[in-house]
Amino acid sequence: MTHAPLVLGIETSCDETGVGIVRGTTLLADAVASSVQEHARFGGVVPEVASRAHLEAMVPTVHRALDTAGVRLGDLDAVAVTAGPGLAGALLVGVAAAKAYALALGLPLYGVNHLASHVAVDVLEHGPLPEPAIALLVSGGHSSLLLVQDVTVTLQPLGATVDDAAGEAFDKVARLLGLGFPGGPAVDRLAREGDRTAIAFPRSMLREQSLDVSFSGLKTAVARWVEAQPGPIPVADVCASFQEAVVDVLTAKAVRACREQGVAHLLIGGGVAANSRLRALAQERCDAAGIVLRVPRPGLCTDNGAMVAALGSRLVAAGVG
Ligand code: KG4
Ligand code: ZN
Repeated sequence: MTHAPLVLGIETSCDETGVGIVRGTTLLADAVASSVQEHARFGGVVPEVASRAHLEAMVPTVHRALDTAGVRLGDLDAVAVTAGPGLAGALLVGVAAAKAYALALGLPLYGVNHLASHVAVDVLEHGPLPEPAIALLVSGGHSSLLLVQDVTVTLQPLGATVDDAAGEAFDKVARLLGLGFPGGPAVDRLAREGDRTAIAFPRSMLREQSLDVSFSGLKTAVARWVEAQPGPIPVADVCASFQEAVVDVLTAKAVRACREQGVAHLLIGGGVAANSRLRALAQERCDAAGIVLRVPRPGLCTDNGAMVAALGSRLVAAGVG
């Protein structure tokens, strides 16, 4: 191979059909078809609906990515696909498609870890990954603190949510405030007009030594507070105060993980990494602690195919067979 490898990445672990194309560490295409609107009336992702939507979106999304990148299937050097974790039926659609492309084109197939892809995607925007790094991955399905020694090998779990994922907490609080699904973006927007010190919501597990987090009690505290209001709900203040409780705990534990592991780089990914207050507070606390913070742009934080292609490309470069 005389040029950097051209890698197709397929992601179907949740409700986004993502197809990315990467050459080396250069992003050429990032096509995403989301079934999020089909789940809105249920207030959460319905696995069977997601699987069917992946099936329908797969081939058109692959073609859209090829068109954007200006390449043909025959130009590809490898295929990478999310093997897990995720919704079983949804993953199956992506894996079956990736196997079919790899077999038909005679290409190597890489089954990759979804969380490792969330970490690896940052190379497309900010260049080579700092390793070791601490990764804080926060989305609708996962909330984890991980030690990344080498993203192609393994991620060492340091802490995780013991109940709801961070994004799930945003979605549930948004739902009880009548803000629709997914709730994170709406809460983020409204919180900008609210006072984050208005209501002292609990910071679960903040003082505990463990790097685990918990958001179920916070969600209940918000529900109780809202129920107890005699008059109109100050929605912006509730959003700002709830959001502050989430990001306070997440950033405090992420910085603590860096300190404990003696690591000077923090990487944040997953849909909740799009949150403006999480980004701001993480920056503030990393600056104060002498930690270098890296957060990909919001479009690369949510589930996408580019992240799978980015990790696949790294595996090809590392000579992993
Ligand atoms: O990574 P993602 O697209 O899908 C998975 O769940 O894997 O993340 C979606 C989650 C949803 O829970 C959504 O409410 C949340 O990320 N989210 C946000 C924001 N944008 C998306 N949460 C807080 N603030 C945001 N700006
Ligand atoms: Zn994800």
